[in-house]
Amino acid sequence: MRNFSGLAMACLGAAMLTITSTTFAEEVKVNIANGKNIFENGKPDAGVAACQTCHGEKALGNDAMGAPRLANIGYVYVVKQLTNFAEGKRTGNEVGAVMNGFAQALTEQERRDVAAYVNTLPMATESSDLAALKAEGRSIGEPFKGQIIVRYGVTNKVSACQTCHGFNGRGADPVYPRIAQQKYVYLVNQLTHWRDGSRANDPLGQMRAVAKNLTDEDINNVAAFLTQASDSTVGGGMQVGNETVLENILKH
Ligand code: HEC
Ligand code: HEC
Repeated sequence: MRNFSGLAMACLGAAMLTITSTTFAEEVKVNIANGKNIFENGKPDAGVAACQTCHGEKALGNDAMGAPRLANIGYVYVVKQLTNFAEGKRTGNEVGAVMNGFAQALTEQERRDVAAYVNTLPMATESSDLAALKAEGRSIGEPFKGQIIVRYGVTNKVSACQTCHGFNGRGADPVYPRIAQQKYVYLVNQLTHWRDGSRANDPLGQMRAVAKNLTDEDINNVAAFLTQASDSTVGGGMQVGNETVLENILKH
């Protein structure tokens, strides 16, 4: 932008010198250190609790809280969700109602900073402890059946999840979040909310169309598969600035 605006200034001459660089598309800057600070400490003077209390120190989620993994699920997706919470376009799921107040109390820049931070965390995996959830009395699905739906869908009823979310649900930037290695309780909650329409912030109604034909059993099955699904295959990265890959690909 700097070169272009410099060139434009030179061409337009003295009469146009009052035009500032805001005339041109502004580069979005994120402050990852500030994002880390918000994630670890919240914003106490504005009543925002530390994100890690519920989402976990490594942002891998927490079944007991119904809180999702945020690490590497997609920068654009996380900014969108925080904006949707702040604007009331996504609301009121169980303890999730707390997110509306937190997101409102963050500035637009802070929402970007914290989204950038969680997207730079290590690509760690931590499946839900399905045996422990079962012992607590939750119905747990069969991963094998869930895998079929994720890869192939249900004929004439449900699209294969991976047509949008990528292989094994590893995510497809920028619209489709990573759903592999997401927490079981959160996955079941969201699929149920898409199905009954209480979550309705999906572009083009894509998720509501998918979820309306899922049975309770299907939901448990896909969640059991997805929380354990491997996302380590080639192409699974969602991180900004993968220098090793970048260096290699530039040689070709
Ligand atoms: C008191 C617990 C709690 C705290 C603290 C908290 N969250 Fe959440 N968050 C949740 C829960 C629970 C949900 C799931 C909401 C639902 O079921 O719809 C959620 C959902 C989200 C989502 C949606 C993710 C997705 O996959 O769609 C984002 C993004 C998020 N939180 C970011 C944050 C950030 C950033 C902070 C800190 C500023 C924070 N949260 C603090 C409990 C919390
Ligand atoms: C036609 C495309 C499409 C298909 C097929 C699809 N999804 Fe989605 N899904 C989306 C979009 C778009 C979003 C993001 C919605 C938003 O921006 O809030 C999403 C979001 C989700 C979320 C919320 C993730 C989070 O972190 O909150 C879950 C869970 C999910 N999808 C599961 C599934 C499952 C399971 C299947 C297969 C049964 C599936 N999806 C098939 C488009 C699709």
